[in-house]
Amino acid sequence: MDDLNHELLRATLGTRPFKFFSSIDSTNTAAHEWIGAGAAHGSVIIADEQVRGRGRLSRQWQTPPGKAIAMSVILRRLFAPSELERLTMVFSMAVAEALMQHTAQSIRLKWPNDILLNGKKVCGILIELIWQGDSLVAVVGGIGINVRVDFSGNPVLGEIATSLEPHTTQPIRRATLINDILQRIDHWLTQLPRTNIHNRYRNLLSTLGNQVRLKTTLGQIVGLAEDVDATGALLVRLDSGALMRVTVGDIVA
Ligand code: BTN
Repeated sequence: MDDLNHELLRATLGTRPFKFFSSIDSTNTAAHEWIGAGAAHGSVIIADEQVRGRGRLSRQWQTPPGKAIAMSVILRRLFAPSELERLTMVFSMAVAEALMQHTAQSIRLKWPNDILLNGKKVCGILIELIWQGDSLVAVVGGIGINVRVDFSGNPVLGEIATSLEPHTTQPIRRATLINDILQRIDHWLTQLPRTNIHNRYRNLLSTLGNQVRLKTTLGQIVGLAEDVDATGALLVRLDSGALMRVTVGDIVA
């Protein structure tokens, strides 16, 4: 039995500030509200069900009750601009490593921050920066994990999405996995000032060496995904021979 409730989370997460909702519109939206009400650094919002989950590039994200993890981690401390750029890598590496603690199957990253299990998406991450004028107030790292969502009846999603539990030897206890993720985020945040953390990120990426088509705000880009730089930007070799640095985008093929 994989209950998710306030008591279990309190026992698992120790003294960390958190809010649990059995059903919510979006944990990222709730995190924005809590930040307005003074949430401390490291606080987390967790929900069993999300009815209006938000994904990257204005997509929707499904979190059916009892079957998934929806959590949003609030970071509220001073970040150097170079550290802010590395947060996508921090969240991706943290979640990937926590998932590796629960499955022996292949866990890789699809740039910039999709987590793939045996080549299919098991987790999506939505990082939002909250500004007040020119000042950064907080960062919200929203994490959605398919734990036992059944995609078999959905031919479109079944091709590209998967769940964690069918690929583990033990049933998943979501509270434990949430705590494992938070521990890895804490670890990688301590590494944030180091300029070489992209080496670990690079090793986890399945994207490098592939011919890719990217949807970006500047339009479509086609080329060879050659490398990532220290900020996590993707370096794409175009047919013209030029190297293009892509900071925001989505690999569509
Ligand atoms: C993506 O791959 O497009 C990112 C999906 C992010 C979904 C998570 S679920 C928890 C948090 N709350 C949201 O509304 N979105 C993120």
